[in-house]
Amino acid sequence: MPACSLKRSHLELVSSLILIFQMFLIFFFTFHTETRILPRSRRNDTNPGPQRHDPSCYLKEKLEKHNMPIIHSIFADPVKNQVVAVGVRFWFERWHEEMFYCEFHGPRGGLFIQLTDPILKDYQRFGATAQYVLVLICPIPKPLIGVQKSMLTLRRTSNTSLAYENITVCQSQPHGGKKRYLSMCTMLKDMDAAVPPWLDYHRHLGIEHVYIYDNSRTSTLNQTVRRYLDSGFLTIIPWAHVHSPGKTYLEVQIAHENDCLWRNRYRTDWMIKIDVDEFLQPMDSSMPSIPDVLRKYTVVMDSIGSLRIQNWFFCRGWNQTRRHHHESVFERNQYRRREPTPVNMGRDKAVVRPTNVHFFKIHGVKLGGDTITLSPLTEIRMVHYRGDNKLHSGFRCSDKRPVKDSSMCRLWAKIKEFSLNVKEPNGIHCT
Ligand SMILES: *[C@@H]1O[C@H](CO)[C@@H](O)[C@H](O)[C@H]1NC(C)=O
Ligand SMILES: *[C@@H]1O[C@H](CO)[C@@H](O)[C@H](O)[C@H]1NC(C)=O
Ligand SMILES: *[C@@H]1O[C@H](CO)[C@@H](O)[C@H](O)[C@H]1NC(C)=O
Ligand SMILES: *[C@@H]1O[C@H](CO)[C@@H](O)[C@H](O)[C@H]1NC(C)=O
Ligand SMILES: *[C@@H]1O[C@H](CO)[C@@H](O)[C@H](O)[C@H]1NC(C)=O
Repeated sequence: MPACSLKRSHLELVSSLILIFQMFLIFFFTFHTETRILPRSRRNDTNPGPQRHDPSCYLKEKLEKHNMPIIHSIFADPVKNQVVAVGVRFWFERWHEEMFYCEFHGPRGGLFIQLTDPILKDYQRFGATAQYVLVLICPIPKPLIGVQKSMLTLRRTSNTSLAYENITVCQSQPHGGKKRYLSMCTMLKDMDAAVPPWLDYHRHLGIEHVYIYDNSRTSTLNQTVRRYLDSGFLTIIPWAHVHSPGKTYLEVQIAHENDCLWRNRYRTDWMIKIDVDEFLQPMDSSMPSIPDVLRKYTVVMDSIGSLRIQNWFFCRGWNQTRRHHHESVFERNQYRRREPTPVNMGRDKAVVRPTNVHFFKIHGVKLGGDTITLSPLTEIRMVHYRGDNKLHSGFRCSDKRPVKDSSMCRLWAKIKEFSLNVKEPNGIHCT
């Protein structure tokens, strides 16, 4: 063995011993601790049950306090037995230099202290306003492993009067829950009408479950999508977070993405991350569903972070008037740009492998496995109806003649078993 690596492993050994010793001291002298093992029968880790959605398991409002990091989400990872907290930070904050106590409130007043380090030094920035993330991980004390819901206090070590106290922490998935192959998550704000077609379309193409982070001001979404909730296809997460002064809405978006990916890490093989004006279209008729295309990548699933999907803008025809009052997004937009948006222009979206991603930002994996780009001509493209998003209602394909493309309209007609005759009650007009 070369001398330098011998030396390094010695150093590592010494520093781990020091850390273990510190934890020992903290554990025994700083706080009164109690270690009692819950008998297995009292733990609820054998109850798969239906995955009932408990809103208290999410931070509807982010945690925010002077001299504490902003935390957007916190939950227990049942596979690695650790609590994960995801937050964001300003460029000038140096949380990676601080240590935190995770104080787990056990049953009957027991307290278990673990020490943690915000492990991420994120020097990567994205967009015009730099956005940085913070991921904090605490091992769950043995006696609390498998407990579905517990209480945690997160405390700074350098000043123990600074803390978030008594945060509810839920296990991100009940043991025994069946793993899904393909799920999807998004965040939206007051866009109820767009949701049902978006869900129907993707359900037909092989998505098994959808998570919507609802950032709306008025909460009518659960009524609009009731049948999807009742059938277990959809989970709505109340997500009333607002961005911090000096940051943009991207803060809230990045936070929901990382919450979604971390929380569902072991619940789904693949996670699609797109908006509700975006639709994934498989391009090879011999592989008509999205999972059909993803299965081509099974051999690299253990290593890759994501599959990149290229954006393709669709739009209205010039001088287009409304055809009939049921007109859908697919009928309105039967033109597209001549070319897809090139990669890395801030328009890509991704199908993510949650277990291989530490940190995701909007258009791609920032820390994690590699990305493979799918062909928008022969594999999957992202049909982007930007003009249907009320924030961009003036959007036109471009002044260079757009191309007629009614493939999405025809696919929609097939999904809904609509007739291609607008004069019939369920008729649809694909040009
Ligand atoms: C386990 O779950 C059952 C029902 O799901 C509940 O009645 C019981 O109180 C739970 N036990 C513990 C220890 O949380
Ligand atoms: C610790 O934080 C509290 C609350 O912000 C503050 O009043 C106190 O001065 C701090 N102590 C030290 C030593 O910085
Ligand atoms: C947190 O819980 C403990 C124990 O139940 C209690 O003594 C304390 O006052 C709580 N703190 C807050 C801020 O609610
Ligand atoms: C929808 O959510 C609101 C508050 O978030 C709640 O009061 C209402 O009961 C829910 N409605 C349905 C149909 O679940
Ligand atoms: C729209 O098209 C119709 C017939 O195709 C034409 O008569 C009309 O002038 C056009 N309107 C505009 C604003 O170009």
